[in-house]
Amino acid sequence: MINVLYRYTSYLFFLYVFIISFPAYGQDQAETLINDEMCYACHQLDSASIGPSWQAIAARHAERRDQVMQVLAGKIIRGGGGNWGVVPMVPNQRVSDEQALLMMQWILEQAPR
Ligand code: HEC
Repeated sequence: MINVLYRYTSYLFFLYVFIISFPAYGQDQAETLINDEMCYACHQLDSASIGPSWQAIAARHAERRDQVMQVLAGKIIRGGGGNWGVVPMVPNQRVSDEQALLMMQWILEQAPR
């Protein structure tokens, strides 16, 4: 009886760990990508540097996230300018569509509350 109980609770434990770690997974991955791809060379969380801050980008676009997601993910890959000033964004051609979308999802969640 004790054995069965023990096995049952350990299953529950692993299930619990799986459930709590799952939602964080995509977010961690996005943050790692943003670090690895050197986005912080030109972007900060809350202050403009060479590029606009993540918060400013989120504040401008989050409301229309469904419409702008693809466009902005494309801009991460191909670069482009004209939205924030005279300096264009550099292309990041090593970034895949999937990675760009993950990063965009994270960026659009950074709007100041
Ligand atoms: C060499 C500097 C530089 C690097 C590196 C850089 N950016 Fe940018 N980024 C910019 C500039 C400048 C702009 C503003 C472009 C404009 O005016 O449309 C910008 C704009 C953006 C925007 C907003 C686009 C818009 O139209 O609102 C996003 C999203 C973005 N960058 C994401 C990233 C991500 C993700 C990375 C890393 C893969 C990255 N950037 C790396 C300079 C950079």
